[in-house]
Amino acid sequence: MAATGSEQAGTGAYYVSTPIYYVNDAPHLGHAYTTVAGDVLTRWHRQRGEKVWYLTGTDEHGQKIMRTAEANGVSPGEWCDKLVEESWKPLWKHLRIANDDFIRTTEKRHTDRVQEFVQDLYDRGEIYQGGYEGPYCVPCEEYKTFGELLDGEGEFAGQKLCPIHKKPVEMLQEENYFFKLSAYGEKLLAHYEVHPEFIQPESARNEVMQFVRQGLEDLSISRSTFDWGIKIPWDDKHVIYVWVDALLNYATAVGYGADPEKFEETFPADVHLVGKDILRFHAVIWPAMLMANGLPLPKRVVANGWLMVGGEKMSKSNLTGISPHELTDHFGVDAYRWYFLRAIAFGQDGSFSWEDFSARYTSELANDYGNLASRVAAMVGKYFDGALPESLAHGEAEQAIADGLATAVREADERIGEQLDFAGGIAAIFDFIKQVNGYLTEQAPWKVAKDESAEAQARLATILYTAAEALRACAVLLNPVMPDSSAKLWDSLGAEPALGPLAEQRIADAGTWGKLPAGTTVTKGAALFPRLEETK
Ligand code: MSP
Repeated sequence: MAATGSEQAGTGAYYVSTPIYYVNDAPHLGHAYTTVAGDVLTRWHRQRGEKVWYLTGTDEHGQKIMRTAEANGVSPGEWCDKLVEESWKPLWKHLRIANDDFIRTTEKRHTDRVQEFVQDLYDRGEIYQGGYEGPYCVPCEEYKTFGELLDGEGEFAGQKLCPIHKKPVEMLQEENYFFKLSAYGEKLLAHYEVHPEFIQPESARNEVMQFVRQGLEDLSISRSTFDWGIKIPWDDKHVIYVWVDALLNYATAVGYGADPEKFEETFPADVHLVGKDILRFHAVIWPAMLMANGLPLPKRVVANGWLMVGGEKMSKSNLTGISPHELTDHFGVDAYRWYFLRAIAFGQDGSFSWEDFSARYTSELANDYGNLASRVAAMVGKYFDGALPESLAHGEAEQAIADGLATAVREADERIGEQLDFAGGIAAIFDFIKQVNGYLTEQAPWKVAKDESAEAQARLATILYTAAEALRACAVLLNPVMPDSSAKLWDSLGAEPALGPLAEQRIADAGTWGKLPAGTTVTKGAALFPRLEETK
C-alpha cells in the first residue's frame, strides 16, 4: 500500500472510523476484525503523541433491521437498544476498544443533521424525483444491476441472487428521490488520479476506477414503502435511503452543523476502514455526496478483506458467524487482538483456523515472547535480588541488539502507523524478539553466573540489562496491539516509577537505547501468555 504521512492530515486530530455495523444480530469475528484494526492504528498514533479521534457505531435504520425486529416481535427501536447495549458495546469493552465516540444513527444528533444535509443537497438542485424499478438486496441494503446477479439453483432455482449473500434479490418499483451521482464520475476519477492513496489497497483502487469509468447512474436516495428511517424533510412519505443516512455518521458524529470547532478540527477522516464489500459506498457515493455539499474528502479509504469460513465470507446469515467470545475465552483478549492482524495481510481475505491460532500462540506469544519475559525477570531475581543491574560491559553483541531495536521501531512505525500493514509491523517486532532470544542463547547468562570473577559478573549484569531493556521497548511497541500483557510487562520491569505510565511512552523514543535505568525493581509475575491447556 502507498504510504501517506499523517502530517498531510493538517493540524487536526488523526480521525479514523470503522463502518457502523447493522444491529440485526450480535457481532461476529468479521466485525471485530476491522474494529480491532482501527483500535491498534489509533492507539499507535496516540502513542506517537498525536491527537486522535476514533469513531465506531451502529447503523440502525432500513428494511433489514425493521424485518429482523418484526420477526422477533419487537419494535425496531427496542431491538436496536437491546443489541447495542447487550451485545455491541460490551464486546468492544471486552476487546479493549478505546473508541472516542460511539454513534447510533437513531440519535437526534445524527437524524437532525442528516435531514439538514439532504435538504441542502435538494436546495442546491442535486436531488430530483423519479421512478425506480430494479433489483434490491435487503441484506446488503443495496440496489443491484442485473449484470452482477447470479442465477439461483436448488431452492432458489429460477430466481436471481445477490452475489454476496447468495440470497434472492427483491424487485423494487417505487417513486423515489434521486441524487445526481452520474454528474460526479469525471470528478471522482480526477480525484483518484491526483490522490492515488485515496483508495487502498491498489487492487481496490483499480476495481473502483474501473467501475466508475463504466459510467455512474443516479442514486435513489429515498424509500417510500416502509417508514423505519429518517424522513425526507420536504416529503414525509419518504425515508432517506439507509446508506445515505449511514455514511453521514462520519460527519454528524464530529459536529457537522452543530459544533463548527470540533468539525473543523476533526473532519474529514484520515482513514475510513471498510470491508471490501462496502468499498463503493465509501469510495464513490460518499465522496460524491461530499463534493455536492462542498465538503472536503477523506484522505484514505482502506478496504480490508474478509474472514472466511469454508471458502465463504463468514456471516451470521450463513450461520458461520463465530462469536469473538469463543476465542477470547480460550486464547485471551490480547492474543485475539494480535492473531488476526498478525496472521492475515491487511487487505486480503484470510481463513480462520483454530489450529493456526493455537500454533502461533504457542510459538510466538508463549514461547518467544512470554518465556523471554519470565526468564529475564527470574534471572534478575535470582542473580541480582530483583534489582535491575547496570550495563557495565556493553559490547558488540549488545550494540547489535540496540541496532536491531532501532530497525524494528522504524519498520513497525512505518508499517503500522502509515501503511496499515499490521502483519508486517508486528512481524518486525517479533523478529526483534527472536533476535533477543538468540542473544540470550549465545550469551548463556546462566553459565556466566557460575563464574564469580568481577569481569564475569559485569558480563552477567550487562546481558540481563540488555534483555530487560529490549523488553522495555517491546512493552511500548506492543502496547497498541496487546495492552493487557504490555501493562503486565511494564509492571514486571518496574518501569513505571522510573519512566512513567506506559501509554505515555512515545513510539519515537522506543528505540532510544538505555531508557530503563538500572535499579528498577524487577518482579516475575504470572506468565504473560499461559500455556493453552491451563486456560481451558
Ligand atoms: N451498515 C453497513 C456499513 C455502513 S458504514 C457507513 C454495513 N454493516 S455490516 O454490519 O453488514 O458490515 C460492516 C462491516 O463488517 C463491513 O465492512 C463488512 O465488510 C464487515 N464484515 C462482515 N463480515 C465480514 C467478514 N466475514 N470478514 C471481514 N469483515 C466482514 O455494511
